[in-house]
Amino acid sequence: MNNKRMNAGGKYRIAWLPGDGVGVDVLEATKIVLDKININAEYIHGDIGWEFWCKEGDAFPARTIELLKNVDAAMFGAITSKPVKTAEAELIPEFKGKGLSYRSPIVRMRQLFDLYNCMRPCKGYPHNPLNYKEGIDLVVFRENTEDLYAGVEFNPVPASVAAALAQESKPFAPFKDLPGDQYAISVKVNTRKGCQRILRAAFDFARKFGRKKVTVVHKANVVRATDGLFLDIAKEIAREYPEIQMDEANVDAICMWLLKNPLNYDVLVAPNLYGDIISDLCAQMVGGLGFACSGNIGDKLAVFEPSHGSAPKYAGQYKVNPIATILAAKMMLDWLGEEQKAAAVEKAVAEVIQEGKVRTYDMGGSNTTLEIGAAIAAKL
Ligand code: IPM
Ligand code: MG
Repeated sequence: MNNKRMNAGGKYRIAWLPGDGVGVDVLEATKIVLDKININAEYIHGDIGWEFWCKEGDAFPARTIELLKNVDAAMFGAITSKPVKTAEAELIPEFKGKGLSYRSPIVRMRQLFDLYNCMRPCKGYPHNPLNYKEGIDLVVFRENTEDLYAGVEFNPVPASVAAALAQESKPFAPFKDLPGDQYAISVKVNTRKGCQRILRAAFDFARKFGRKKVTVVHKANVVRATDGLFLDIAKEIAREYPEIQMDEANVDAICMWLLKNPLNYDVLVAPNLYGDIISDLCAQMVGGLGFACSGNIGDKLAVFEPSHGSAPKYAGQYKVNPIATILAAKMMLDWLGEEQKAAAVEKAVAEVIQEGKVRTYDMGGSNTTLEIGAAIAAKL
């Protein structure tokens, strides 16, 4: 984090990717806040979302990929995704039956741009009526490009894959004679490099911000190859940070402990899928998805988003809480090196929460998405 990024003209280029569903609503509210703090930035709209899947057969069109190659950062709203058959049914006739398959654009974006570090702060702002407990301040670091998200999957399983597994893996014996269409395989791929860089991101963050403990989340007692690697590398890296306590926990156990004693935890780091799961758990303890922000951070590009989905049933109703997205914009400001402005946005968010006068429905209020944005902007 906190890479100072400034292009020649001193003007940031920020890709603006609302997506669909409530992604549009929350980005509109966030723009009110960003306009108020007035950074020297150009916001460039990018097409992405369900609409482009239906009419172009690609939810993440090539022109948007090109745009992302030429920006300093991006703000992303949300995108609807649907099961394979429903997705196919919604394509315009020319694209039906062409073998197009829907893959989540955000997952593709993370992989295409090597946004390996998914950072998800979960802070309980004082007096949020939705806080599970006061004082929770967790930061989840989730590996963001590999693991069970690598996309190496087989359904049906080709005979050549089954033959190789039968030869190389004893535990595969019970499956080896099954017809290929009677089972499916999803491969969990974790590289040394992938483990190293997410673990390093977590420990570096802890060092920089004086955090005391990093909890490494895994399931190495069962998933011995990949999670064993993650844990071994964690131990190696932890030695370079003697001032930080390294703690480790199985993913199932940490779900119980986090709920039991959330104040005992600080920074958490996990492979992709466990990170996905625990970040929702942590989000719920600080008010739910309306408060959970996320940075997908690579070495060259970072894309910031709320952790929630597109909630199609609320689309266009300006009902959902934009605070998660406004906090994602705060993370973007940090990444751009605008730390003071980032801190000001966070303070404004905290004040609006603390006062409790302007609240969306999730917090028991009846204000609109845009009214929250305006109330936060008014504090700046
Ligand atoms: C998240 C989401 C995504 C993920 C979905 C939308 C593909 O749950 O960002 O946590 O699984 O990574
Ligand atoms: Mg998730």
